[in-house]
Amino acid sequence: GKRTFTMIKPDAVEAGNVGAILEQITASGFRIVALKMTQMTTADAEEFYAVHNERPFFGELVEFMTRGPIVSAVLEKDNAVEDFRALIGATNPEDAAEGTIRKKYAKSVGENAVHGSDSDENARIEAAFHFSGREMF
Ligand code: GTP
Ligand code: MG
Repeated sequence: GKRTFTMIKPDAVEAGNVGAILEQITASGFRIVALKMTQMTTADAEEFYAVHNERPFFGELVEFMTRGPIVSAVLEKDNAVEDFRALIGATNPEDAAEGTIRKKYAKSVGENAVHGSDSDENARIEAAFHFSGREMF
């Protein structure tokens, strides 16, 4: 697939890392085809992360993702989903490879700076959740 969806999460926005993260993303060959800052409501976060609603950290995840603004984007590149997951690194920054976005900017397994879609189908669903057709170029 050629597209993936990402969010720069509240921890990274609070820390002032939006510019550096977007720079690393575009320098790695991704084209930004949609971009905006929003704040998710509790209902938004519960729906976006519904797949995790039985996990013990679900409440913490929803609390974290709604506590401040996020920057969401749709990114275009050949092999976008897989290449973007490689660029951000492992969920837990302690396990993330050197130079990855999570290694550089994530604080913990929960507050891990960025999201990346895990399949082409989820990339489409997640992009449509955050952006209207008129907001994607
Ligand atoms: P995303 O790109 O955000 O979907 O991360 P991921 O695909 O690397 O991880 P996963 O989908 O398994 O988990 C979704 C998100 O839930 C993670 O990015 C974390 O923010 C959060 N999360 C996962 N595991 C834990 C945990 O053990 N504790 C806490 N507090 N949060 C977790
Ligand atoms: Mg995930």
